Amino acid sequence: MRRRPIVWLATALIALTLLGGVLVWQQRRGRSQSFLEGNPVNGAYLFQAKGCLHCHAISGSGGHIASDLGLVTTPGRSNLGELVTTMWNHAPEMWRRMQKEDLRAAPMTEGEVSDLFAFLYLVRYMDEPGDAARGRRLFESKGCMQCHAVRGQGGKIGPDLAAISGIDTPIEWTQALWNHAPAMEKNISKVGVAWPRFEKSEMNDLLAYVREVVGGPRSESKLLPADPRHGRELFNSKSCVVCHALQGEGGHTGPDLTAGRQSPLSMVQFAGVMWNHSPQMYQAMNAHGVQRPVFGGQEMADLMAFFNSLRYFEANGSVEAGRGLFTSRGCSRCHGANAQGTSLGPALGGSGRHVNSVALATALWRHGPEMYRRTQSLGIPWPKLEENDLGDLFAFLNAKPEDRQK
Ligand code: HEC
Ligand code: HEC
Ligand code: HEC
Ligand code: HEC
Repeated sequence: MRRRPIVWLATALIALTLLGGVLVWQQRRGRSQSFLEGNPVNGAYLFQAKGCLHCHAISGSGGHIASDLGLVTTPGRSNLGELVTTMWNHAPEMWRRMQKEDLRAAPMTEGEVSDLFAFLYLVRYMDEPGDAARGRRLFESKGCMQCHAVRGQGGKIGPDLAAISGIDTPIEWTQALWNHAPAMEKNISKVGVAWPRFEKSEMNDLLAYVREVVGGPRSESKLLPADPRHGRELFNSKSCVVCHALQGEGGHTGPDLTAGRQSPLSMVQFAGVMWNHSPQMYQAMNAHGVQRPVFGGQEMADLMAFFNSLRYFEANGSVEAGRGLFTSRGCSRCHGANAQGTSLGPALGGSGRHVNSVALATALWRHGPEMYRRTQSLGIPWPKLEENDLGDLFAFLNAKPEDRQK
């Protein structure tokens, strides 16, 4: 017991040294933009300035030449990767329409594309949609209703769900649940429920239900642009670094948060991961004398932007599978089997910049028309991508050239 403060001091000192390591490591890797870093207000302006509004409407207002980008009608198109995939597949049709309308694709920088995506993220619901009816059943079966009423019906230990505002978006929801865990832990023995765990899409369903009960316009716009550099500072100041390593450097009480994962994690699922681990995390915090950190304002958004820059949300794609796709989808025909470049197309990746959805969309916007002309002159079809290709393709394109070969 007496040794705890000393252990804590030592770990804090180690943490500070480690942060230096994290800084260097961050600089070594090429930074990649994400929509979380985009400015949605600027994105709204760009949507008009770059001519998108001429053809696409946002929830009914705008052009009607192409699909409405504000309405999520097809569940499969709800996340960013899928939006980029559809955009890639539909690009030739888009360019043909542009020619017909006498419009030219205005060039865009990666920064502008992340602004646009931040805007699209806010106007459509960019996460897997959930099932509100199932969410309602979860609210009961996971014991939430033992403490929370919904419009008067249910427990009275916590606030009525309908009266809690600012919790109906992924970032806010993650923040609210994180901050709330201690209050729940304190009261849980009173109602005799076990710590509920959420698996797979359950958190999406629960959030869909919460959104139905809480309603109102989305208030997340004020959280963007998020600042990953501030997120990195928070990772230190909120003591996460005491227990979590990044690329092997840091505490080892909890898992390394850059180790990669089997499947990509949506931001709502991230809320579930944090929630499921809370009891162990809090036990470890008590044992190490680390105070339970609370998040307010922009902080969770900034932390998520930092996690995103660590690629924590991305699946650990397979270089081997990506290599196979690069050939089977027809990219290798012009870019070469190892994306080393041929006379028909340039070498890809390897420039130190990380290829992700934003980078791919930017490349499509800049180089797509020329790429399309090439396919036409060769008499080959436009190479189409499938929904789950991106993770493996990115792993392949981000691998060092020597690691790409069989
Ligand atoms: C000249 C008209 C035109 C302009 C300008 C235009 N698009 Fe498109 N876009 C299309 C057409 C046509 C399609 C394919 C069919 C469809 O989705 O209706 C398409 C498809 C897309 C898709 C795939 C949508 C889906 O779910 O099927 C995205 C995303 C997209 N465009 C984004 C943009 C963005 C961002 C801009 C502005 C930078 C833009 N488009 C400008 C005509 C246009
Ligand atoms: C053992 C009682 C208890 C259970 C079970 C419980 N809560 Fe709570 N909850 C509370 C209390 C007490 C508060 C108010 C104190 C606080 O906000 O930290 C609260 C607050 C909240 C808040 C608001 C946090 C904020 O930032 O305002 C949310 C959201 C919430 N609970 C969601 C849930 C969900 C979802 C479940 C089911 C998985 C659940 N709660 C289960 C006791 C409980
Ligand atoms: C005192 C040690 C400790 C601190 C401080 C701590 N964690 Fe953890 N964390 C853990 C442990 C232990 C686990 C694993 C729990 C389990 O396996 O259920 C974990 C799990 C996690 C996970 C799930 C990892 C995965 O991919 O499965 C995330 C995300 C996470 N922590 C984020 C954070 C963040 C963000 C902070 C700072 C606000 C933080 N942790 C602070 C100990 C800690
Ligand atoms: C018909 C030949 C051809 C095919 C097939 C082709 N590309 Fe390209 N690609 C090109 C050419 C040519 C360029 C350069 C265009 C320019 O200079 O504007 C290019 C550029 C690119 C760029 C941008 C490079 C940069 O410097 O930013 C990316 C990314 C890309 N292609 C990816 C792909 C992927 C992924 C596939 C398969 C789904 C594919 N290409 C299929 C010919 C092709």
